[in-house]
Amino acid sequence: MQRRDFLKSTSLFAATLAAGQASAFNLWKSAANKRVALVGTGVRGSSLWGKNLVENYGEEVTFVGLCDINPGRLETVREYMGVDCPTYTDFDKMVSETRPEWVIVTTMDSTHSEFIIKSLEAGVNVITEKPMTTDAEKCQAILDAQKKTGGEVLVTFNYRHSPHNTAIKQLLHDDRVGKVTSVDFHWYLNVYHGASYFRRWHAYVENSGSLWVHKATHHFDLLNWWVGATPVEVTAYGALEHYGKNGPFRGASCRTCDHKAECPYFWDITKDKRAMELYVDNEEYDGYIRDSCVFREDIDIWDKMSAQILYDNGVVVNYSLTTYSPYEGYRIAFNGHDGRIDSWEDIPYQRGEYNEEEQADLHKAEMSFGKEETPTEFHEIIVHENFEPDFESIKVPKYRYGHGGGDRRMLDYLFVKPDAADPLGHMAGTRDGALSVLIGVAARKSLAERRTVRIDELVKV
Ligand SMILES: NC(=O)c1ccc[n+]([C@@H]2O[C@H](COP(=O)([O-])OP(=O)(O)OC[C@H]3O[C@@H](n4cnc5c(N)ncnc54)[C@H](O)[C@@H]3O)[C@@H](O)[C@H]2O)c1
Repeated sequence: MQRRDFLKSTSLFAATLAAGQASAFNLWKSAANKRVALVGTGVRGSSLWGKNLVENYGEEVTFVGLCDINPGRLETVREYMGVDCPTYTDFDKMVSETRPEWVIVTTMDSTHSEFIIKSLEAGVNVITEKPMTTDAEKCQAILDAQKKTGGEVLVTFNYRHSPHNTAIKQLLHDDRVGKVTSVDFHWYLNVYHGASYFRRWHAYVENSGSLWVHKATHHFDLLNWWVGATPVEVTAYGALEHYGKNGPFRGASCRTCDHKAECPYFWDITKDKRAMELYVDNEEYDGYIRDSCVFREDIDIWDKMSAQILYDNGVVVNYSLTTYSPYEGYRIAFNGHDGRIDSWEDIPYQRGEYNEEEQADLHKAEMSFGKEETPTEFHEIIVHENFEPDFESIKVPKYRYGHGGGDRRMLDYLFVKPDAADPLGHMAGTRDGALSVLIGVAARKSLAERRTVRIDELVKV
């Protein structure tokens, strides 16, 4: 393809995707108290989108129905949330009987598209958890359904809302290092949080799209938002070298395992009251084993991932995701014509301390919400302009709970001040949802076919 044709087709692709989001979330802004129904009463659905909304956003939201395929978990969660709305194992029945204005989708990733599309077709708008979906076909079907129905789909990218990530966006928006030409972005999941994906439904591409989609959708969305451009090509490498079939032994679940004493990944679910109530007490209904072995032979997702991404404005990204690091954190750097921005989260030797217990609890803190602690630490962003001997160190308050403070800020944005201006574009819709997923889908295809994959090969517009 000639360069001119390449640019033309790329910008056409971007423009058509953007059209699906042009409504600027007007439907969302119009309703004061929203009648919502929620599908997927697992940990995220029952906590952030469940009990938390009931307790902290009761004036803005009324629950009219709850749905899950697991009737036991459904009942546990209805009580946990303290609501008396009807519960359903049949989504269509819930929508037709309760007539919600909005459906909140918090089910297993690969099922999101079904509920997004059914809602849109029933004239109901959607708030969906990330990832919007897990493959190109489902992505296409969502984009088509939204175009056909004119409904609204909000994709809840909470990471955008953390003060740290917002401050990085602001610096780029303010053009502090001139035109950005390349980005280095490396994300480390520790041996607790990283391993947790290999215990759960996430361990199969069929369910989660792999961590290229389930986890990296957060990172690719941040990149797309920070860089402010459309991804066009992806070249990826990856392997499963640590978990799954690589383990020296295995068992049916941690609870029943013969290798408890010798396995560094042994997790005693019986000590986690909430996990017992949500999952173990309801195993009889769906057979879902929440403390499955991280060394199951049939695990088919990657545990080492690395990609190069080219954007339509020429930016090149070097990205990697590690799933068995001693610590949890990230590093990012933006190289611009006029300087460089560096930042990082939670690198122990830069914080001056390493705490194993804290590492084990980090993910729990990330998933907790409600308490907005007074920050005692800060994140640092370094802005170093070319030919300047001094660099600027910008300190941003650090919040440990609710995804770096992103969850609370996102919900306030959504529910308390939906009419507020959005100068940095924090709100995300199907375009953002699609592009962040499609980078991961392109990475999977690149690995399978050992070649560079164009994003517009995946979704036809
Ligand atoms: N934004 C974030 O930071 C964040 C954090 C955690 C989870 N999530 C997202 O939230 C979603 C739920 O994750 P989770 O950790 O709560 O998982 P989970 O396993 O605890 O809950 C998923 C629930 O969906 C139900 N379910 C599965 N298939 C269904 C179907 N076909 N119909 C109805 N119900 C079905 C399951 O029974 C379960 O109750 C995922 O998409 C995940 O990516 C986002």
